[in-house]
Amino acid sequence: MEVVVLAEEHASGRLWAQHGISFLLKVERGGKAYKVLFDTGTSWEPIQHNLRLLNEDLNELTAIVLSHRHYDHTGGLLGALKSVGKPVPVIAHPDIFSVNFVLPMREIGLPYSREELKEAGARFVLSKDPVEVVPGVITTGEVPRVDPVEREMTLEAYTVRDGRLVRDPMMDDLSLVVKTSVGGIVLTGCSHAGVLNIVRRAKQLVGEVYAVMGGFHLISADDNRIEATVRGFRELGVKKVMTGHCTGVRAECAFLREYGEDFDQLAVGKRYSFPD
Ligand SMILES: [Fe+2]
Ligand SMILES: [Fe+2]
Repeated sequence: MEVVVLAEEHASGRLWAQHGISFLLKVERGGKAYKVLFDTGTSWEPIQHNLRLLNEDLNELTAIVLSHRHYDHTGGLLGALKSVGKPVPVIAHPDIFSVNFVLPMREIGLPYSREELKEAGARFVLSKDPVEVVPGVITTGEVPRVDPVEREMTLEAYTVRDGRLVRDPMMDDLSLVVKTSVGGIVLTGCSHAGVLNIVRRAKQLVGEVYAVMGGFHLISADDNRIEATVRGFRELGVKKVMTGHCTGVRAECAFLREYGEDFDQLAVGKRYSFPD
């Protein structure tokens, strides 16, 4: 299997960076090749540009998986659907359309209506339960919030429920887990569910987790939280860490110190391969 980074805050050469995450997952199962698009960045144009430069395309795309509703993961969705040009399953959590904002008022949720996305070809599969997208490629579904380190969320976002302004626990945050012969490979969006909770959930689904790749949203976390997260990774047996986006430079440094050669900073155009 291979993961190609299509959107991220870092890029080199003629590739385009942007705020957000998008990964193209390519797997082979039983002699058949599959592609899954995980998240769509803030804008589609840079991804289209990067696909061309990287000699990749979305032909025969099996599905689009959305990690959560934030605009920096869903903003490119309409462009992605138009570029695919035929109906495609879009797998996400049922809360994907609910309002989400930070205060003072700035909306940060999905910037399109369900109708316009359906019209562009989205066939929504909205599930709190894990969904097997391709043989051995499964969403975590809703992630149980159990790890004592992650009792507090690292993002102060709000929603409206029954006419009341409430903190949004971002229950829509899900990740994608790929079974390989070396263990599970976990793709995260922003890890608003807590990245240790996500790893625990992935272990329930596939056994050992070999690598975790994506944003961990530790950008505003204090040093105690960061150190506890790195320790938690080791305790849960994670062997490789590829991170960037909303992880924050202090947390990236902490992972680099602990993981050395087994750490990598994400950037557009990077490819990560694992034995099937
Ligand atoms: Fe994000
Ligand atoms: Fe987010």
